[in-house]
Amino acid sequence: MQQSSLAFAAPRVGSRDLREGVLVAGKYRIEKLIARGGMGLVFRASQPMIARSVALKVVRPELLAHPDAAEKLLTEACVLSRFQNDHVCRIFDAGRLEDGAPYLVLEYLDGTDLRVLLNREKRIEPARAVDWMMSLLEALAEAHSLGIVHRDVKPENLVLARTPSGDSVKLLDFGICSAPNVKGASERKFGEDYGIGSPHYMAPEQISSPDASDHRIDIWSVGVVLFELLSGEPPFEGDSAMSICAQVLAREPISLTQLVPTLPAGLAQIVNRCLSKEPDKRYADVAELAAALAPYGSVAAREALPRIHRTLSSAPPRNEEPADLTEPTPPSTVGPASRRARSALGDVSAAVMASVLNTRAGAAVQKPLARLLTSNRKETS
Ligand SMILES: Nc1ncnc2c1ncn2[C@@H]1O[C@H](COP(=O)(O)OP(=O)(O)O)[C@@H](O)[C@H]1O
Ligand SMILES: [Mg+2]
Repeated sequence: MQQSSLAFAAPRVGSRDLREGVLVAGKYRIEKLIARGGMGLVFRASQPMIARSVALKVVRPELLAHPDAAEKLLTEACVLSRFQNDHVCRIFDAGRLEDGAPYLVLEYLDGTDLRVLLNREKRIEPARAVDWMMSLLEALAEAHSLGIVHRDVKPENLVLARTPSGDSVKLLDFGICSAPNVKGASERKFGEDYGIGSPHYMAPEQISSPDASDHRIDIWSVGVVLFELLSGEPPFEGDSAMSICAQVLAREPISLTQLVPTLPAGLAQIVNRCLSKEPDKRYADVAELAAALAPYGSVAAREALPRIHRTLSSAPPRNEEPADLTEPTPPSTVGPASRRARSALGDVSAAVMASVLNTRAGAAVQKPLARLLTSNRKETS
C-alpha cells in the first residue's frame, strides 16, 4: 500500500531542476523559459488540472546565495496578493521548492513587454501611449491607495497583454517596492544589498536617498516612460549608470518637442511636469496626472478617469497587521551572501552611487546615501 502512494508522490524539484517538462509542486508543468530578469527567471507553465496557463517566477539560482533574495520574492508575493486591479499582474499561488527556494505562480500574460515593443516600433503614437499610461495610472492608483510605491516603473515591467476585451497594459515586478503593510518590505533597507532601481527611470530623490518611498517617485518614472514611448529615447542618457544618475540629478531633460515636433505642446508640458526635480512641482497624485493626460488619449482613457479617482480616494485598510514573512524555512541552498551575488543584484549598486557622489552633480546627494555607502563598504570589506 505504502509503495503505491510513493509511486504517486510528486518528484522532488529544486531550483536547479527547473526545465521544460518538469512538474513543480505536483501541479505546474514547465513549458519554457520566457524571460530572464535582473533578479528572476520567468517560465511559462501549465496547470493541467484546471487547464490554464500560468507564469512561474523564481530567483535566479546564482542569486540564491544572497540571504535576502528569497525573502524579496516572498515580499513581492504578499504585495501582489493585495491588488484587485485588472492592470496589475495577478498572483495565484506561492511556495517553496525542495531546496527552500521560493516560487511565485502568476497570471500568464500573453503579450509583449513595452521594452520589446519599443525596440520593435521605435516610437508609439501619442493616443496609444497615453492609453497605456492611463492603464498604468489605474494600477498605481490602487498601489498608492494601499500605501505601496512601486519604485521600478519602466518598460520592462509593463506588459501589453492580450485579454478577452482587447490589449491591456499590466504592471508587474514589485521586487523593490515600498509597502509599509508588508513586514519584509517596510523593514528592508532597499539600497544596501539590492539594486535600488534602474538609473534611466529613477527620480532624483530616489538616487540621493535610496530608501525614499514618496508616491511621487512613481510619477517621475511615468514621465520617463511616456517620454520614451513618444520619442523613442530616454530623457536622460549617459554611457554609464553613474553618468545617467548625474544627469538626472543636475540636468534638464532633452526637449521632447524638439525630438518630436508634431507632438501637442500640452502633452509635452505634462511629461515635463512629471520630470520636475522637486517632487512638489510634479502632479500631486496619479489622479491629477490622469486628468491632465486623458484628453490626449482615446475614449478608453477618459473612461479610466473616474475609476482612477475612485480607487485613489478609497480608504486604505485600517489596523491591518503587517503580513509576516518569517515562516520557518526548510533546509535550503540559500547560504551566506557572496560578493558576486551582491553585485549581480539590480541595476544601480552602492558602488555606482559612490562614484556619483564624487561628481559635481553628486554634491547634491544627501547624507542618508553617504551613511548607506559607509555601511555597505564595511559589509563587503
Ligand atoms: N506573469 C507574466 N507573464 C508573462 N511574462 C512575464 C510575467 N512576469 C514577468 N514576465 C516577463 O519576465 C520579465 C522579468 O520579470 P520580472 O517580474 O520583471 O522579473 P525581475 O524581478 O527579474 O525583473 C518581464 O520583463 C516580462 O517580460
Ligand atoms: Mg523586472
